[in-house]
Amino acid sequence: MQGLIILSCIFFITSPSVYARTIPQAQTIFNVIDYGAVGDGQTDDSQAFLKAWENVCGASQSTPTLNIPQGKTFMLGPVEFQGPCKSNSIQFQLQGTLVAPTRDAWKGDDKWIQFVYVDGLIINGGGLIDGQGASWWESCINCDRPTALSIHSCNGSQITEISHLNSARNHISINACSGVHVSKLEITAPDDSPNTDGIDISHSNSITIENSTMGTGDDCVAINGGTYDINITNVVCGPGHGISIGSLGANGAYETVEDVHVKGCLFKGSQNGVRIKTWPGGSGYARNISFEQITLVGARRPIIIDQYYFSSDKNSKKPSVVVSDVTYLDIHGTSADEKAIDLDCSDQGCKNIVFERINITSSIPGDNTYASCNNAYGSITSSFPSVSCLK
Ligand SMILES: *[C@@H]1O[C@H](CO)[C@@H](O)[C@H](O)[C@H]1NC(C)=O
Ligand SMILES: *[C@@H]1O[C@H](CO)[C@@H](O)[C@H](O)[C@H]1NC(C)=O
Ligand SMILES: *[C@@H]1O[C@H](CO)[C@@H](O)[C@H](O)[C@H]1NC(C)=O
Ligand SMILES: *[C@@H]1O[C@H](CO)[C@@H](O)[C@H](O)[C@H]1NC(C)=O
Ligand SMILES: *[C@@H]1O[C@H](CO)[C@@H](O)[C@H](O)[C@H]1NC(C)=O
Repeated sequence: MQGLIILSCIFFITSPSVYARTIPQAQTIFNVIDYGAVGDGQTDDSQAFLKAWENVCGASQSTPTLNIPQGKTFMLGPVEFQGPCKSNSIQFQLQGTLVAPTRDAWKGDDKWIQFVYVDGLIINGGGLIDGQGASWWESCINCDRPTALSIHSCNGSQITEISHLNSARNHISINACSGVHVSKLEITAPDDSPNTDGIDISHSNSITIENSTMGTGDDCVAINGGTYDINITNVVCGPGHGISIGSLGANGAYETVEDVHVKGCLFKGSQNGVRIKTWPGGSGYARNISFEQITLVGARRPIIIDQYYFSSDKNSKKPSVVVSDVTYLDIHGTSADEKAIDLDCSDQGCKNIVFERINITSSIPGDNTYASCNNAYGSITSSFPSVSCLK
């Protein structure tokens, strides 16, 4: 034993570089430049990133970090960062810019940057993800456009302090995840860019989104089927289509959304504010949902429940996703549309819909606001405009 220690000491003294190579120091930061990434905004750096990822994902230290340095722009084709990784926490430290190829140079399907089966993923660093969406929006309305950042099957993730610009489609998709904390994001795309949702959530639970600003051409946040325990706090949305639950129940699907709480959000110049949308013929439920302390600045149609999404057949006797236990509390500000509230429930009715301390006036001087209400049941305490069917 003693001999072994002495021997290794001599070895270290005589040949430190060999020692360093055979027993590597605990490296925790893996810089993409060291793997050959160029960062000139033109060269495809995908392979360098994937090589670096291999080392990060295989490292056993706590929180090995993939570093993407500041001041450089890295062009990446479609890339998939795969887990499971050795460490139970991995940092993707984006300090520089990632840029997608334009449509004519795109070689992939409908996803650009993907993380799959990575537990404890932390994406941070203050950098920018630029999807170059303008090269797609006009020429490719109905073809598959790539989502910029997809996170699939994850545990205990954090996404914070990243800017997202002009995705060809959704900016961020979270699917099959449990425990994701999103904060301090800035998501920006023009109000007429098609399907450019800010954050899209499906089949996931325990998600927090807070302290973020989103202006896009579609929903700021969309909460789809198979989700529960979602809190959205202190988000500024506009332009965009608001914060939406659904659409649920398309093509007769069974879908569920439960325990969604939206609080302290501002909608400015958005098409909608808070919206629940379901298709005739679907089943399942959307329940235990609250929208609280919401401020509106010229939002068109701030409050919507639409159980006839994409259907003109208001006499449809088809079953639908059941909407119940939805509370609207402390919602104030201005609507750009006279119809500020539109509750359009299917035959089976929306149950326990609660309106408390609502005051929505028109953003157009001299104009009034009104509510339309169909098959919604519940209670109302102080609401302007009044919602007749809740009385
Ligand atoms: C998440 O954590 C659980 C429990 O710690 C584990 O069983 C599972 O494999 C992890 N990964 C994913 C992707 O769910
Ligand atoms: C969401 O907020 C509720 C309280 O309103 C809390 O019980 C729940 O744990 C929160 N969930 C997450 C994921 O933060
Ligand atoms: C979000 O903002 C609130 C209020 O400023 C602050 O208390 C909270 O710590 C912030 N959350 C994060 C994750 O930065
Ligand atoms: C509604 O959601 C809250 C917060 O997530 C939760 O604490 C509560 O138990 C839920 N209520 C019901 C009836 O499920
Ligand atoms: C609603 O808001 C308007 C504009 O801020 C204000 O003049 C009015 O007094 C408010 N009504 C109630 C009932 O609070």
